[in-house]
Amino acid sequence: MTPIAASIGDGDGGSAGKARHVAIIMDGNGRWAKKRMMPRAFGHKRGVDTVREIARAAREMGLEALTLYAFSSENWKRPADEISDLMGMLRSFIRSDLEEFVANNVRLRIIGDYQALAPDIVELIDDAIARTAANDGTTLAIALNYGSQQEIARAAARAAEKGPITPEAIEAELDTACLPPLDLLIRTSGEIRLSNFLLWQAAYAEMWFTDVLWPDFKPAHLAEALAQFTSRERRFGGR
Ligand code: IPE
Ligand code: IPE
Ligand code: MG
Repeated sequence: MTPIAASIGDGDGGSAGKARHVAIIMDGNGRWAKKRMMPRAFGHKRGVDTVREIARAAREMGLEALTLYAFSSENWKRPADEISDLMGMLRSFIRSDLEEFVANNVRLRIIGDYQALAPDIVELIDDAIARTAANDGTTLAIALNYGSQQEIARAAARAAEKGPITPEAIEAELDTACLPPLDLLIRTSGEIRLSNFLLWQAAYAEMWFTDVLWPDFKPAHLAEALAQFTSRERRFGGR
């Protein structure tokens, strides 16, 4: 049985039920700031507020996992001052919000090659992962220095060391192996592309695109996406 079939049964149609794992490409911070004639950093700052609000909503809505695309392996192409602003916000977010995760049974995970970030950030992250490792509520997975093609290549290399390269063997080595199968992928800001995010995991995920810019994304938008997910018919190639 393929991993996908194993995770969803025989694909005999019917409504999709409740989503377990939602991922979001949080896009549009720069445009949000530009519309207000403010620096991009202001948009990113408001974007962090949205992360906090949506992570809380995901927990309250009973999602098992929420994966957020925060920094891609291609975002290193941006000017140094923007990268430095983003890394500064990452530091202060972990410092300010870790206690809330601990208190609310949230398990923090990272996907992507975060070990390549600044050593003090790696230390903050490792501490946050360790302190929330035993939590069994919602998992908040943050994609940092994440590129899906790189992830798949890394997973295939590890799988090859262990035995034959099969889809199951690769899947078991992906950064997302600790998460439930991806049900719903959301992208804000009107762009209709994946930008190297969860390419493998999205094989049979439902997609929801909105023109709303990330700093304007509210729990009501998440609820709307989830409601639409529930009414969709997933077939997984069956009938
Ligand atoms: C998303 O907002 C945040 C990151 C990619 C870090 P952008 O910075 O891409 O905003 P736009 O797309 O330029 O509006
Ligand atoms: C995708 O957004 C990456 C994140 C949201 C972190 P980008 O703004 O980097 O994507 P492109 O460049 O428009 O495809
Ligand atoms: Mg963008």
